[in-house]
Formats: sequence, C-alpha cells, structure tokens
Amino acid sequence: MKTLLNIQSSPRFETSLSRVLSDQFIQQWLKDHPDGRVITRDLMKTQLPFISIEWLGGAFMPAKKQTPEMVKAMQLSDELVAELKNADQILIGTPMHNYNVPANFKAYIDQVVRFNHTYNLNGGMLDDRKTTVILATARFYTAGAPEEQCNYVSGFLKCILGYMGIKDVSILLAGGMKAVNLGQDTFENYVEKYRAEVIEAAKSTSDRIKNQNSIS
Ligand SMILES: Cc1cc2nc3c(=O)[nH]c(=O)nc-3n(C[C@H](O)[C@H](O)[C@H](O)COP(=O)(O)O)c2cc1C
Repeated sequence: MKTLLNIQSSPRFETSLSRVLSDQFIQQWLKDHPDGRVITRDLMKTQLPFISIEWLGGAFMPAKKQTPEMVKAMQLSDELVAELKNADQILIGTPMHNYNVPANFKAYIDQVVRFNHTYNLNGGMLDDRKTTVILATARFYTAGAPEEQCNYVSGFLKCILGYMGIKDVSILLAGGMKAVNLGQDTFENYVEKYRAEVIEAAKSTSDRIKNQNSIS
C-alpha cells in the first residue's frame, strides 16, 4: 500500500487554487492506487511554532541528555519527520507569498530539517521519492516571464528537499490568479485551465511507480 503525504498551506480553502488542484491530483492518484492512503498535513490546522532555544538544544543533544523542555519542544518535529519518512510520495500545495513560501510552510521546513534524522554530515538521509509541488501565484513565473527571477519558491524547495535527499521534485506553476482576484476571470476557469496538467502530473507519478515495481 502506497502512502501519499499531502502538505497544504493556503489560508484559503474552497477558493484556494493550490488546494483545489491538489484535490484533483489526489482524486487521480487514488484512482491509480485504489488501496493507497493519503495523509494530509494541513498547516492551517497544525499551528507550527518557530524553532526555539529548547528546540535547538533538543535537536543537537543526544536523547538521553535532553531536558524535559527539550523533549517537549521536539515532539511535533518528531511527528512531522516520521510522517515524511513514511511517505512513498509527496504532494505539496502552496501559494506564493511575497515571492516565497508562506510562513507556515517555512516553519514546517524548519521543523523537518533535522540533524541525524533527515540529514547528517554525509548529506540527505531521506530516500528519494516522487514529489510534486503545485504552486499557485497571482502573476506568472514561467520561463521568460518578467518576474521569473523573483520566484524563490521553486529553487528553495528543490534545494531544501534535495538537502534531505529528495531530488525527484516536479513543480507545476499555476500562475495568473491575479485575474481571478481582480474579478476579471472566474476561479472555475482557472481550475479548468490547469486541470489537464495536474491529472497528467498525477498519472505520470503513477506510471513511474508502476515502472519501478515492474523493474524491482
Ligand atoms: C500575503 C500574500 C502575498 C502574496 N504574494 C504574491 C507574490 O509575491 N507573487 C504572486 O504572484 N502572488 C502573490 N500572492 C497571490 C497568491 O499567490 C495567489 O492569490 C494564489 O492564488 C494563492 O494561492 P491559493 O489560491 O492556493 O490560496 C500573494 C498573496 C498573499 C495573500
């Protein structure tokens, strides 16, 4: 049974392009994996603390020497790291906020980049696994777009996931939501605009797993 970890961070719900497109990805993925399991980590529901002095102490102190405060500070991080390790595939739905990931998603990253858990002095400790990012933006960041260089989400995510060992990262740029935000187009049109690309992304991950299975 394959497990898809679905990480969502938009403060919007029904009107969130990243969430609605992620739901379409999941529907397709479940069609291809009828016995698959989807674990959702919704960062609007899990209130993540920023890392603290107790967290830093706990992260770099052997378990036996940790104070009760350090142990407490690491609990959520331990849970998130375990969730990440157990996922066969990862789906990330995120808005761009001020050219980067939303603060709640950065807080998530800070919780899971853990010495001797997800990286060590030799490099990333996580097995590589297919990861798809659906990035919703108001404007466009495709090759040649005027603000292409200001997209700090794609490079950041590829670097930080790669730092933990996850290098198979595909990013689907769902841009142009400005037209919807200004009332010049409908949300439904934008969902439709990216639907085929999302379904294709979900299918290609399934094909890849099937191919892997037939090789191994
Ligand atoms: C605080 C904030 C900052 C934003 N910053 C950017 C930005 O830097 N570039 C951009 O293209 N869109 C920006 N947007 C627009 C969102 O990325 C866009 O509305 C997107 O559709 C949000 O994702 P969602 O529909 O999944 O909620 C910003 C929106 C908010 C609320």
